[in-house]
Amino acid sequence: MKYAVAYYTRSGNTKKVADNIAEVLGVEARDISLELPGKVDYLFLGSSLYAFKYDESVEKFIEKNAGNIGTIVSFSTSASGNSTAKFVKECAEKNGIKFYPHSFKCPGSFMLFNPGRPNEKDLNAARDFAKNIKSELGD
Ligand SMILES: Cc1cc2nc3c(=O)[nH]c(=O)nc-3n(C[C@H](O)[C@H](O)[C@H](O)COP(=O)(O)O)c2cc1C
Repeated sequence: MKYAVAYYTRSGNTKKVADNIAEVLGVEARDISLELPGKVDYLFLGSSLYAFKYDESVEKFIEKNAGNIGTIVSFSTSASGNSTAKFVKECAEKNGIKFYPHSFKCPGSFMLFNPGRPNEKDLNAARDFAKNIKSELGD
């Protein structure tokens, strides 16, 4: 299939972004604990920062599915607004997977930080991100 969306989440922030991206792409966003639905040209992969890194299960997921993924498109949420893209890129390339040059990130709520984020505006921005990539890919 051309597109799939997979995410790792602890409190649901990244899942909200994943669900919105998936709707634009016409697929279902799936937790990374589930199997990938076969070979995927573009995998939109969501993750977050925990103690300045992504969760190691994201790394394991990439390694395990390397043979079935053409290109990874990264999206992330975090308290600081920083992205996980550099970690995902490094891991993708180490495993022979291409990394798409555009990524998405937005703030995610954490304790007293960023209440209500991602909010509607963030989710609309995530949808626009997916629409733009679709059009960049000629869809
Ligand atoms: C244990 C823990 C550590 C975190 N460490 C960071 C961090 O180093 N940098 C940051 O920007 N956000 C950090 N956060 C905030 C999360 O990245 C943010 O809440 C994110 O939106 C969580 O996404 P999720 O709900 O999909 O798991 C941390 C959150 C937790 C629970």
